[in-house]
Formats: sequence, C-alpha cells, structure tokens
Amino acid sequence: MTVVKAENVIKDYGLNGTTVHALRGVNLEFQGGEFAAIAGPSGSGKSTFLHLTGCLDTISGGAMLVGGSDTSKMSHKQLALLRRHSIGFIFQAYNLIPVLSVEENIGFPLTLLGVDKSEVKERTAQALADVGLEGMAKRRPKEMSGGQQQRVAIARALVKKPALILADEPTANLDSTIGREILELMLALNKSVGTTFIFSTHDQMVMDYARRVVHIRDGQVESDEVK
Ligand SMILES: Nc1ncnc2c1ncn2[C@@H]1O[C@H](COP(=O)(O)OP(=O)(O)OP(=O)(O)O)[C@@H](O)[C@H]1O
Ligand SMILES: [Mg+2]
Repeated sequence: MTVVKAENVIKDYGLNGTTVHALRGVNLEFQGGEFAAIAGPSGSGKSTFLHLTGCLDTISGGAMLVGGSDTSKMSHKQLALLRRHSIGFIFQAYNLIPVLSVEENIGFPLTLLGVDKSEVKERTAQALADVGLEGMAKRRPKEMSGGQQQRVAIARALVKKPALILADEPTANLDSTIGREILELMLALNKSVGTTFIFSTHDQMVMDYARRVVHIRDGQVESDEVK
C-alpha cells in the first residue's frame, strides 16, 4: 500500500522579497512498512520534505498524497485530523512539553483524539514499556538525558499507533551509542508493529540502518537505493 506519494513536489519559501527554491520537483513514493532514510547535505531540503509529508506546511506545486488523500485538496481541519490520527513526528530537538511529566507528554496526542482517561493511562504505560522507560512516568523532560528524552518523543509518536512516523534527524543530538539504541528501537517497532518510518539524516550510521536511502541535493532526488 502506498503511504506517501510525492509528484513533482515544489516548495518555495519567500524570504525578504526573494524566493528560496527548497524543493524543485521531487518524485518519491513510500510503501507501508518501509524503513527509509532521506540523506543529503545541509540545506538540501530534507526537513522541508518531511514537513510537507507530515502536513505541517503546504506545497507550492505538484501533488502530495498521504494515505491516498491529496493534501492540497484538504481543508485545514481535514489536515489536522490526518496529522492527529495517522502521523507521528519525531524532531531533532525532541520538542517535549517541559511543564508536563513524561506520561502526560506521551498521553497528550491521545487526549487530543478524545480517548478516555483510563485508556490513555493504559496505552501510555504500554508505550513507556515499549521504549524501555518504565518507572520514569512522573519525571519531567529536563530531569532526563537526551537519549531518554528522545525515547519519550518516540513513545509520544507511537502511542496513537500511526501508520507513518516521520523523524527529522532523530539521532543528531545523541552520541553514537545512544543513537544506535534509538535506531534499534525504531527498527524493532517497524518490525513488530509495521509502522512506516521515514527519517532524515546526514549520519552514515543511520543510513546503514535504513533499508532504503534516498539522497537529495539542491531540492532534487539524486539517487534512490533499496538495499
Ligand atoms: N522557513 C524558511 N524560510 C526561508 N527559507 C527556508 C525556510 N526553511 C528552510 N529554508 C531554506 O530551504 C532550503 C532547504 O532547507 P531544509 O531545512 O529543508 O534543509 P535540510 O536538508 O533539512 O538541512 P539541514 O541538514 O541543515 O537540516 C535551505 O536553503 C533553507 O535555507
Ligand atoms: Mg533539516
């Protein structure tokens, strides 16, 4: 099943009266269950592509289909629902909510979905166990290491069981040992739950883990290798 289909996707940013051509006609298709990396130098358009795929921003041209729906034909409300139900996002800087505890951070997407309290509690506990952080439910993000915070971010992305998880340089702030643990965790979830993962990176170790590596340069696909 095709989860993401980018057809000649163009993204221009306006900047002080000039235009930055961030994506210049990207054609890419991702199937359910993929574990794929988008690699490329700084400024090549990796984050832009993930933000467009995650419906966090809108395309300037072409078409972006997510879960079979053409995102340019959807209202803000429909896009918000698609994001909420089907897509998990993991950011380089974790983006946890500092005033909330670990379990509150993880449970937040479920609360937004209107899941009742007892089920939120149950699923949050399961997600915490899935990422190996049992016993840390009551901590605040600042009381944890970077690797632990990234695990919380993974648990938060995972808890609603989305079809697709997008991760923007998920290991960039971690040392290589912890980075490897995070990759092993994502790979295990990909295998056990079948979640599709698309992540961006410029780290060779991360590319080695991926089963497919798409290289982009100057906003265009340069190569696409399935191992
Ligand atoms: N909000 C914005 N406004 C203007 N230009 C932007 C904006 N966001 C990104 N760009 C530009 O678009 C291009 C692609 O940026 P993008 O963040 O997608 O690159 P990247 O591959 O993720 O880089 P990095 O590896 O440094 O994270 C760059 O030239 C960048 O300067
Ligand atoms: Mg980036």
